[in-house]
Amino acid sequence: MLIILLGPPGAGKGTQAERLVKQYNLAYIATGDILRAAVKSGSPLGKQAKTFMEQGQLVPDEVVVGIVRERLTAPDCAAGAILDGFPRTVAQAQALDQVLEEIGTKIDRVIHIEVDEEELITRLTGRRVCRECAATYHIKFNPPKVRNVCDQCGGELYQREDDSLSTVQERLVVYNKQTAPLIDYYNREGLLTVIDGNREIEQIFSQISSALETGSS
Ligand code: AP5
Ligand code: MG
Ligand code: ZN
Repeated sequence: MLIILLGPPGAGKGTQAERLVKQYNLAYIATGDILRAAVKSGSPLGKQAKTFMEQGQLVPDEVVVGIVRERLTAPDCAAGAILDGFPRTVAQAQALDQVLEEIGTKIDRVIHIEVDEEELITRLTGRRVCRECAATYHIKFNPPKVRNVCDQCGGELYQREDDSLSTVQERLVVYNKQTAPLIDYYNREGLLTVIDGNREIEQIFSQISSALETGSS
């Protein structure tokens, strides 16, 4: 099973992916997480990505396509994977189609999580992320049991650098311009399911699960 989670910053892609990988036993490919780990390690990839990410801009297509190609061909992805935050441009979507053709697989469903812009800003500015395992929380909507401590691994929670109000606004502009055209792209292919992401986390999860099980839009 190959699933793409599409949606603006703060839509809940990571939050839902955490639950979906457990439920369906899939590999998890989140380009944002991979790039943040690279920035933290100071690797050449991290050095290349850092400025783009801090400014809320997209990292160049060829860089992220390279990352995803390598991950999708790794053994843990043989049984299926969830792509979170990729593709993000039409060029990335076309490159993905080519990689999938090479490895003889295809996309099962693209889940587009729709959320109102005001709500996205509230979600992102209150988000906290685990430094160790990248689990996601919200100070109000999804708080950890112990303040600033990850429920899953005991790691310290922090605020992402790109979750400041001004960078969030820029990320939304970039999404509308560069990523939103993918909604049409996948709709034309008959792969798109639109989910109302303004609701509770668990309600959204059950809607996504039933869409995956019935293959419906
Ligand atoms: P990335 O890490 O992918 O960020 P993003 O797409 O902007 O999405 P977010 O992670 O901010 O949101 P999310 O939808 O995962 O929401 P979450 O579940 O955390 O990318 C970061 C950067 O990396 C990019 O700007 C770019 O520079 C670079 N990059 C990454 N991929 C790239 C690519 N393919 N090409 C080029 N560059 C790339 O939820 C948000 C908050 O809301 C949390 O606090 C959560 O607890 C809360 N929440 C979730 N669901 C609900 C709900 N239903 N109700 C209330 N609160 C909720
Ligand atoms: Mg995310
Ligand atoms: Zn953790």
